[in-house]
Amino acid sequence: MRATARAQPNIALIKYWGKRNRSRNLPAVGSISITLADLYTEMSVELDKGIAADTLTLNGEHNGDMLPRVSACLDTVLGTGRVQARIDSRSNFPVAAGLASSASAFASAVVATSAAAAQDRSIAELSRLAGRASGSAARSLYGGFAELRNCDDDIEVDSLLSVSDWPLQVVVAVTTRAQKSIASGDAMEISRKTSPFYERWVHDQQHDLDLARTAILARDFDKLASIAEHNCLKMHSVMWASRPPIVYWNTATLECMQAVRELRAQGTAVFFTVDAGPQVKAICLDSAVDVVRDALTNTPGVCDTLLTGLGEGARLMETE
Ligand code: DP6
Repeated sequence: MRATARAQPNIALIKYWGKRNRSRNLPAVGSISITLADLYTEMSVELDKGIAADTLTLNGEHNGDMLPRVSACLDTVLGTGRVQARIDSRSNFPVAAGLASSASAFASAVVATSAAAAQDRSIAELSRLAGRASGSAARSLYGGFAELRNCDDDIEVDSLLSVSDWPLQVVVAVTTRAQKSIASGDAMEISRKTSPFYERWVHDQQHDLDLARTAILARDFDKLASIAEHNCLKMHSVMWASRPPIVYWNTATLECMQAVRELRAQGTAVFFTVDAGPQVKAICLDSAVDVVRDALTNTPGVCDTLLTGLGEGARLMETE
């Protein structure tokens, strides 16, 4: 059977950085994210007893690099004795440039794989399976605002608000189209082992989560802006102080952050966040979209801007 699922990337406002269990890919800290609307990955999985090994195409081209990770994700859903699969993945945004392509890829992969095998799994189960492949992917099973919590020896994801509860907008300033220098999973391990700030980062995360959750539930934009920027800069400080240092920013990243700070100082409802890449995501109220997009488009070094609202969680599109 063949199944196709669609999932959108999510952007963490309170970040996941560091693992407490590497073999099960369990995060060291909880996180809070927003799922986007207009950027997506569509993944088709066709189980075929007639083929000897999995195959993977990314945007129509064979890809051997990602195949082991995607095959491992299918093993997690179906078990290692499973039938091999033909996997086809298509995204409508740049891959591996800090736009959370692994989140939408693995969220759509678990939904498609489970459906292709006619399994009946809950969203919570699919979310845990996606998290094994990529921590941030667990959150893309949910729409709107989601919180990932650590519990005993696993994770739980809660929906905090739906899209219509607080329809924020996101302007992504693309500052390079190059692939990122180091994968986030590897970079996290370097931080865990070498950053003098790592323990403090893990220790303080619950406080940041509590502040952000309260701000989100009260739709308090200023409070959310303040804690989200703080948490982002703290995560990057952990990275910068690692050995070797992990620096994902370029000069345009800093220019964009400064442009956003200036807009907010003038009363525009906007804040920034930056993930494991050089792109800047400006989160704003609907009323601020035009001024934010205009400012970022005119910031030196910005190659493009993308605009999206918030969207739904991963879902099945079709089975054949
Ligand atoms: C900076 O989910 O890509 O975007 O679990 O190793 O696949 P793995 O890591 P990944 O890390 C995301 C890191 C981040 C912050 C976040 O999304 O919370």
